[in-house]
Amino acid sequence: MDDHAFKEILCFFGLSFRGYRKVRKGVKKRLVRHMNALGCSTVQSYLDHITAHPLDLYQCRLCLTVSISRFFRDLLVWETIRSRVLPVFEASGQSKIRIWSAGCARGEEAWSMRMIWEKAKTEGLNLPPLHLLATDIHPLYLEAAQSGSYGRTSVKEVNSADRTAFFDIQKGGRRFVVKPLLKPGVTFQRLDLCTELPDHRFDLIFMRNNILTYLEDPQRSEVFARVLAQLRPSGYFVKGAHETIPETSHSLERVCGGVNVFQNL
Ligand SMILES: C[S@@+](CC[C@H](N)C(=O)[O-])C[C@H]1O[C@@H](n2cnc3c(N)ncnc32)[C@H](O)[C@@H]1O
Repeated sequence: MDDHAFKEILCFFGLSFRGYRKVRKGVKKRLVRHMNALGCSTVQSYLDHITAHPLDLYQCRLCLTVSISRFFRDLLVWETIRSRVLPVFEASGQSKIRIWSAGCARGEEAWSMRMIWEKAKTEGLNLPPLHLLATDIHPLYLEAAQSGSYGRTSVKEVNSADRTAFFDIQKGGRRFVVKPLLKPGVTFQRLDLCTELPDHRFDLIFMRNNILTYLEDPQRSEVFARVLAQLRPSGYFVKGAHETIPETSHSLERVCGGVNVFQNL
């Protein structure tokens, strides 16, 4: 598939070619496989087909997802949450703290959050109960997230003490399975950020490396605004390292210079 054909498919879904630039090879492969399975020899016949068949349209949309992630991606984010955000949650007097990992892929971000929460508690922080919701459009990613089983590359930024504390290490050190002690309070749910929202408002929302990267305006700004409306006043928003926040009216301010953690002021 050439870039022109790929762009036609992205355009159909309001997706950004620039966002897919680095990952387009693998995504194109999946699309070609799907087109072949449906017997579509041209992009136009493929788009006509998926327009008339909602299930195939959904499958095509899933082909366009990118699940690259790892534990503690963007270390400065996690250090900021640990040192600046968790103490605010401790002092909040709230009966619970709600956190949303929006577009959680295979769960690395959600489990990282759960780990720093657990660690802070063992270090003496008196945190309220955590309700952590992790959502994604792709059911297979969610299955993997729930099973909590990872290879070495996913955990390369987890230090050895945390590996021992939070994972059952299997297959001679090649498989890392999240320990059952982390599971209470964590819920995984299928949700399309473009059309659905969770019922709750949140104290902290991660929306990294999905909508802000892969969607094109105006949909990008619209989805961002709807997600942001789920954030409580004074709550925190985390974006990806290479993403920009749409210039729509919002009241997010960086927690400190250069960090990708913002507060809703
Ligand atoms: C590159 S991963 C990012 C994972 C994690 N947030 C991180 O930054 O490491 C992007 C994830 O967003 C999900 N995603 C993309 N579009 C979505 C949508 N409209 N609704 C829900 N999830 C979506 C994909 O399925 C994929 O799992």
